[in-house]
Amino acid sequence: MQVVQTIAQLRAILQPCRSEGRSVGFVPTMGYLHDGHMALVQRARRENDVVVVSIFVNPTQFGPNEDLAAYPRDLERDLALLDKGGTDQVFCPSVEELYPPGYMTYVHIEGAVTETLCGRSRPGHFRGVATIVSKLFHLVMPHRAYFGQKDAQQVAVIQQMVRDLDFDLEVVPCATVREADGLALSSRNTYLTTAQRAQAPLIHQALQDARSTIAAGERRAVKVVERIKDRLAAIDDSTIDYVSVVDARTLADLETVTGEALIALAIRVGRTRLIDNIRVQV
Ligand code: PAJ
Repeated sequence: MQVVQTIAQLRAILQPCRSEGRSVGFVPTMGYLHDGHMALVQRARRENDVVVVSIFVNPTQFGPNEDLAAYPRDLERDLALLDKGGTDQVFCPSVEELYPPGYMTYVHIEGAVTETLCGRSRPGHFRGVATIVSKLFHLVMPHRAYFGQKDAQQVAVIQQMVRDLDFDLEVVPCATVREADGLALSSRNTYLTTAQRAQAPLIHQALQDARSTIAAGERRAVKVVERIKDRLAAIDDSTIDYVSVVDARTLADLETVTGEALIALAIRVGRTRLIDNIRVQV
């Protein structure tokens, strides 16, 4: 496994791979890797000749009051996991390498896809995500790029960007990896106290309950949302950011649960903001 920090090194390594006709799979991450990230790496390994993983805590996707400085980091451990997982190249650039002084260009995607759900409470977040992911796509030029459904809105945003800006690659959405008790794996779970961690599975349980309610015939989105909120209320010291039922592709709000729907939520447990979602097909 090669670890590269500069754009020049990365290009020098990947150019020959492409000209030899080898397929490139790419997994962008912010590090502090867990089994959710590693599931993407494993899938990329199975489906491509060359696997590139990036580790970059992207400052432009964090708001001024968010956890950029506190975001957990452990590069040595990440590199050991990636090496074991069969990664070929790890790209871990400095902030200055990707955003040198005088940097001025950002990718802004309009409409429900960036304005609903997390877009409402994290203004500028998806502008930062779209900007860094488009830069990384230009640098790596992958054939396939792997993203987790845990961040369902991020997948929808990237798919929209790939369609609109004609990126010649396939976005591969991958299922959410969960702890045995249902909590979605997240680097931010490390912020939870023991008591908060013990209650956190209620989030997935509330979503599962919503799925059952819909299977039993409920179609009114407000009723589904109400039920989820009632269940989340049992989590101590928590504030609901949003619970929404939206169209899985456009992320536009649904009044009636129809077609492929996404039920997504964000909740603050103490100081930690957690997100989760499920898809339902009606
Ligand atoms: P990060 O939070 O490190 O996540 C990297 C990738 O891992 C994302 O595609 C995310 O959806 C996926 N992932 C995280 N937890 C997962 C889980 N429990 N199951 C399945 N996949 C999971 O998302 C980002 O970084 C950044 O926004 C990034 C795309 C790298 C741009 O900076």
